[in-house]
Order: sequence, then structure tokens, then C-alpha cells
Amino acid sequence: MQNKLEREKITVPIIKNRKKENKKITMLTAYDYSLAKLIDEIGIDIILVGDSLGMVGLGYDSTIPVTMSEMLHHIKAARRAVRFSLLVGDMPFGSYNTFPQAIKNATRFMKVGCEAVKMEGGEEIKDIVEGITKRGIPVMGHLGLTPQKISEFGGFKVQGRNKESAEKISEDAFCLQQAGVFSIVLECIPKELAKSITEKLKIPTIGIGAGKYCNGQVLVSQDLLGLFDEFTPRFVKRYANLSQIILKALRDYKKEVIANKFPDEEHSYG
Ligand code: KIV
Repeated sequence: MQNKLEREKITVPIIKNRKKENKKITMLTAYDYSLAKLIDEIGIDIILVGDSLGMVGLGYDSTIPVTMSEMLHHIKAARRAVRFSLLVGDMPFGSYNTFPQAIKNATRFMKVGCEAVKMEGGEEIKDIVEGITKRGIPVMGHLGLTPQKISEFGGFKVQGRNKESAEKISEDAFCLQQAGVFSIVLECIPKELAKSITEKLKIPTIGIGAGKYCNGQVLVSQDLLGLFDEFTPRFVKRYANLSQIILKALRDYKKEVIANKFPDEEHSYG
């Protein structure tokens, strides 16, 4: 007989309900087995295999170069670890330009174990999002500072500061809701704008650099763990400084090998 799960498996309907229940949604990124396992173990609701993989894991300057095969490789690794969290795959730049391309790529994500896909953009992708959600693939939207449009924005800058840009983001949020997304990530926008969007939408918002009024919060795990310090936006809170801990361990190892202290008797076979 199969063992009963000791915790509730997080699903898309559970995430949608959180807004009605006024319970915060927690979300973090993971690109590999070991980190995904820890995040799942402590009960984070959503694990996103984000295309931030490009900058944090693969050393690219932006998320633009990330390919479908790189995403699939990392989604498969995270999938092997995740038992309870909802696993969402981030569609990389250029993988959803037309509907046939988008549905083919979203389907590939679902085949390797994603339970939803995330796509950046508003009104301009409305029809594509609608087509995908109607075919049973849940979509998470992403508005504000959408990193795949970094060239258009001229850098990592707060969006929605003026009336026109704020209205555009609000309208895009409604478009995405109409198209059937189950939640929307709001990145790097003023907190009052995030509050007004959150209050007006039926679906949950998940903020990153969008203040405290969103229905949930996401961060890139390497940022909060202090593992990636090449670029630290104001919205990142460091909960640990793992780079320093890792550097100390690596230096200690190097010293001990050079001094012939490691391996010692305890770590050798007779
Ligand atoms: O790629 C990513 O990690 C993301 C999150 C920051 C929302 O899109």
C-alpha cells in the first residue's frame, strides 16, 4: 500500500485559494536537486526553476541567452527533489514568440514534470497565454521589471513610477487575469502600485521588489543565501552569507592538503 503524504501537496487551486483565505504564498527559485530538496523540505509553496539560472547558475550577463535545453536540464534535476511544492518552469527568452512555438515548449516543460509555466509580458502575449491555459497548462504571469526586456528598459530599473507606465502595468495585469493566469509575479514596482493591483485582481500577486501588499513573495535563493553578490538589488534581504562560509571551508581544505594534514587516519582505510 502507498504511504500517505505527510504534508499537503501544493496545487494550482490551493495557490489560487490562498488569496481568499488571506494566507501568504511563499516562493523561491531552485535550479538543482540539492537546493530544491531543502526548499521543498521546509514547506515553501512554489519552487520556480527561473531563467535567473542564466545569471546565477550559468554566468551569463542577462537571462536572454538561456535556452530551452538548459531550462529542461535543470527542471529535471529539481523535479527529482520536489515532493510537496508546486514546481513552475520559467519559459526562456524567445521560446513563446508565436502560439505554436509557445504551446510546444510549454508542453515540453509539463512532460518533464512542471506543474505550471511562467511567462513574462502583458497584453502582447494575451492570446498566447489564453491558448495555453485553455489547453490545461497553468500559467503564472510576470509584470513590471521583466528581465527578458532588459534591453528595452535600458537596465534593471524600477518600473511603473510614472502614471502612464503604472496604468500600463495595471492594464496588463487585467489582461493576464482574463487570459486565465493563476497568479502574477510583480517585479520591482512601487509598493502602492502593487497594492492597488493586488486589491483589484481576483488572482494572487507574488512580489519581488514590490513591497508588502502582494499576496506572496519570491526571491532568488542564491540572493537570500548570500551566494551571488555580483549584483544586489535593494529588494534583496540576505538571510545568510554562505559565500564567506564556503570560502573559509575551501581555504581550510587547501591548507590541510598542502600541509599533508588531510586525509588523516580518521578519513583513511586500513
Ligand atoms: O527567473 C527568476 O528567477 C524569476 C523570479 C525572480 C521571479 O523570474
